[in-house]
Amino acid sequence: MASITTRTLLEMKEKGERIVALTCYDALFARLLDAAGIDILLVGDSLNQVLAGASSTLSATLEQMFYHTTMVRRGTERALVVCDMPFLTYQISPEDALRNCGRALKETGCHAVKIEGGQAIAPTVRRLVDVGIPVMGHVGLTPQSVHALGGYRVQGRDEAEAGRLRADATALQDAGAFGVVLELVPAPLASQITKALTIPTIGIGAGPACDGQVLVLHDMLGLNDQFSAKFVKKYAALAEDVREAARVFAAEVREGRYPGPEHSFGK
Ligand code: KIV
Repeated sequence: MASITTRTLLEMKEKGERIVALTCYDALFARLLDAAGIDILLVGDSLNQVLAGASSTLSATLEQMFYHTTMVRRGTERALVVCDMPFLTYQISPEDALRNCGRALKETGCHAVKIEGGQAIAPTVRRLVDVGIPVMGHVGLTPQSVHALGGYRVQGRDEAEAGRLRADATALQDAGAFGVVLELVPAPLASQITKALTIPTIGIGAGPACDGQVLVLHDMLGLNDQFSAKFVKKYAALAEDVREAARVFAAEVREGRYPGPEHSFGK
């Protein structure tokens, strides 16, 4: 089974093959998703909200991301593993970014990093790519800028914003990024950007024309029922399954029905 590389993703775009990505935060899910043929496992800093219960991604730390990315890498044979770089680990200076992103590759075994931002961050992307660190960009709704953007809202709705987004995506491509996440972007704009770029776009809330799609795993599994959004399709309803399994377990323990003889040791 051939592994997915950044080159594979470019070839997939050229051939018109859709790229499938999911977030993943641990080895157990990585094994399941890898076996299911998911192309990219993104260790998103969304784990700070989904797993750690924070209200945004802003307080995610490098140590947290390295811990989870190492686990995901252990569970992966085929997929490309991307480590999301947390807030303030790449914005201070290109040298700082190089140190932190280089550590991500060295210490976690990930294949690439993802950083947020467009034209302003492009010189940093260039610096990283020049030393051999594959970079995935992320424009549109960039969650690390949630306060500056005034909330989690669709980006690029007026022509000035749309023009900025087009320029951001192009700047990332010119700087050497191998792909770009488009988050919460109107579908027609995402389609224009996708057609204009030679690198793949991976959409989340960006319509069907992107070269690939990514969702937060716990959202699409219906595990995180505290979050819902128009763009999330739930492919399972695991939160209810978990609650029901826990209810049945609790009842059986309280009524002395578990453990039964088949779960007990005679000697
Ligand atoms: O952190 C994350 O999970 C992400 C995806 C939503 C693209 O950045």
